[in-house]
Amino acid sequence: MAEGLRLGVNIDHVATVRNARGGILPDPVRAAHLAIAVGADGITAHLREDRRHIRDDDMERLAAELTKPLNFEMAATDEMIALAERLKPHAACLVPEKREERTTEGGLDVVGQEAQLAPRIARLKAAGCRVSLFIEPDEAPIAMAAKLGAPVVELHTGSWCHAVADGKTAKAEAEFQRLASGAAYAAKLGLEVHAGHGLDYDTARKLAGVPAFVEFNIGHFLVGEAIFVGLEVAIRRMRKAMEEGRASS
Ligand code: PXP
Repeated sequence: MAEGLRLGVNIDHVATVRNARGGILPDPVRAAHLAIAVGADGITAHLREDRRHIRDDDMERLAAELTKPLNFEMAATDEMIALAERLKPHAACLVPEKREERTTEGGLDVVGQEAQLAPRIARLKAAGCRVSLFIEPDEAPIAMAAKLGAPVVELHTGSWCHAVADGKTAKAEAEFQRLASGAAYAAKLGLEVHAGHGLDYDTARKLAGVPAFVEFNIGHFLVGEAIFVGLEVAIRRMRKAMEEGRASS
């Protein structure tokens, strides 16, 4: 693996395809086992309030069966915290959740929600979960994450990836610099720095060149690529892209 850089595979959208028909196929837990067999360093799954992709029984099976760390992505609600307290995943990543959004659109408002987040982070830590906060790559939320005692931040790469995809070169460069500075600042505060949302081979390769990042969590692109080349090849190519990026740093 790229030196000091892990790949977490998000299997939510295997469940999206399953749920399009109801039933049990394709099984996201099978995808998780395959991802681990071909080199994923961990598995991420987001149990949303509306259960649009991952369902409760998926989470139960992932927590019981996985041989690599499970990163349980969740809204900071009492329902989800109670589930994490029972399932005890390796990590809990707190994300904002809006019912009407198609995907997680922005980072968690840690500055505005300090009072509500503090006791929930404490509960997750008491349950033994490594708490991560999914935030925008700016100094204020990063500093607040450190103040709240979260050991990990995951920086939202969505704005950068959208700018790259839309061919907005100047905006993409500014967003990349925002991510690089945010990651360096978070690392300076002693936080472990992850990244995710919208990454593909090219953006993952480029971001891997920023040494402060230690983990990328990638889902939608890998599941989409799997349609054409299979999940194994997609994961191997992603790892190679990350290695190339890290080697160039
Ligand atoms: N990290 C977090 C916190 C997420 O919410 C998501 C999904 O939106 C991802 C990573 C993976 O994003 P994607 O599926 O776009 O790769």
